[in-house]
Amino acid sequence: MKEIKKITCIGAGYVGGPTMSVIAQKNPNVIVTVVDLNQARIDAWNDADLENLPVYEPGLDAVVADARGRNLFFSTDVEKAIDEADMIFISVNTPTKTYGKGKGQAADLKYIELCARQIAAVAKSDKIVVEKSTLPVRTAAALKSILDNTGNGVNFHILSNPEFLAEGTAIVDLHNPDRVLIGGEDSAAIEALVQVYEAWVPRERILTTNLWSSELSKLVANAFLAQRVSSINAISELCEVTGANVDEVSRAIGYDSRIGSKFLKASVGFGGSCFQKDILNLVYIARSYGLTAVADYWEQVIILNDHQKARFAENIIQTMYNTVNGKNIAFLGWAFKKDTNDTRESAAIYVADHLLEEEAHIVVYDPKVPAEQIYKDLDYLGTRSSEDNRRLVTVVNDPYEALQGAHAVAILTEWDEFRTYDWAKIREEMKKPAFVFDGRKLLKRDQLTSIGFDYYAIGE
Ligand code: UDX
Ligand code: ADP
Repeated sequence: MKEIKKITCIGAGYVGGPTMSVIAQKNPNVIVTVVDLNQARIDAWNDADLENLPVYEPGLDAVVADARGRNLFFSTDVEKAIDEADMIFISVNTPTKTYGKGKGQAADLKYIELCARQIAAVAKSDKIVVEKSTLPVRTAAALKSILDNTGNGVNFHILSNPEFLAEGTAIVDLHNPDRVLIGGEDSAAIEALVQVYEAWVPRERILTTNLWSSELSKLVANAFLAQRVSSINAISELCEVTGANVDEVSRAIGYDSRIGSKFLKASVGFGGSCFQKDILNLVYIARSYGLTAVADYWEQVIILNDHQKARFAENIIQTMYNTVNGKNIAFLGWAFKKDTNDTRESAAIYVADHLLEEEAHIVVYDPKVPAEQIYKDLDYLGTRSSEDNRRLVTVVNDPYEALQGAHAVAILTEWDEFRTYDWAKIREEMKKPAFVFDGRKLLKRDQLTSIGFDYYAIGE
């Protein structure tokens, strides 16, 4: 296999952008071009002001500053980039289908198929095609079939190289991965991709498997992580009625080295583009093979997560004397976790929707999420008109403005800055009794109650 000199990545999103930036940073002799159909997104990646990158990730600006213009390029010329590349990563979005068979469960592969057809149409030399997006098992086989049947007689080798980075820590995860997983059938193609990663990842942390194991491992890793969150969230409800404290339970069980301490933080519910989508995929595959018990088992992780979000909203309503109609509820945080501007499947969206059904007035402050995105997320649900969403929801750029005159504060994202606020001053400005509903267990109960807040946290 010849040495890889040019890499192209199709899709400049949360996965493609940061991953390729690090690959380029660590392989200065490889030209890495990231392409996307979305001109505005590419312009933002090329913006001289690194504050304007389309993805907010701590440390990403420094990596881009290192490599951009040297051997890292962002462009909308998809065909040219495909033509020139030795290796093509596919990193386009694979949302859950919103129509037809598998609606609400199966992944929508139309963007992947479009990419495959475009690669086949353009390629005039052999290519290694790498699946980076999370995909249902056996997508590689479909990719191969499209490439082989519509191509110009050149050879395509398909590899699966799932991404394990978590948003908010993407650069640390990419610089120091627990493992890199490469699935494939052709040993020379696998070796070519191993070499790209070996530029900075120790060889023993690069695992190689067959294609299907690699594809399935990605879904299973996310399903196991999400299952831990749902497991501890289930226990949080039990803690609330028994007088146990879920943080103490997490700590006690996490000390057992067989269980481990990570992903045991009770919350208002997990979000993000991966957990729900990947479990739905797993459930869909299991059901399509008639494995009902397996499908039901994993589906419960999502059912519990939905329950946790609804329960948090219901608790707000009940505590505020069974009505939030016309009351001001300040939302601190909208992103699905801290240190990202990504809001996909964020618990905040569903909690807000629930409260808006009761005609609450919500004022949102998030350090990184712009107002348009918040309205887009609510409009996408289709629960009410976009006029009503704008009538009931206000977005502000100053947290103290959100809290001014509020009847209650709900903490939806664990941004560190929320801890540093002057909570005594905030209480003075709020309606009394002043309620705090802490969906992230971020603040200190003793401190808030001594100031005079009515403080509620998950699992206490
Ligand atoms: C996840 C996987 O971690 C990553 O390996 C994969 O590549 C993509 O999916 P991500 O969704 O970016 O990453 O973030 P993650 O840190 O896993 O958090 C997911 C959700 O679970 C967030 O909403 C987070 O707040 C929530 N969570 C996480 C908890 O509620 N409690 C926890 O203990 C951990
Ligand atoms: P992820 O979190 O998986 O990176 P994103 O939605 O952030 O998902 O990014 C996926 C990107 O892929 C989007 O910017 C979208 O415009 C781009 N994309 C989708 N289909 C194509 C295509 N056929 N060619 C080029 N870019 C595409």
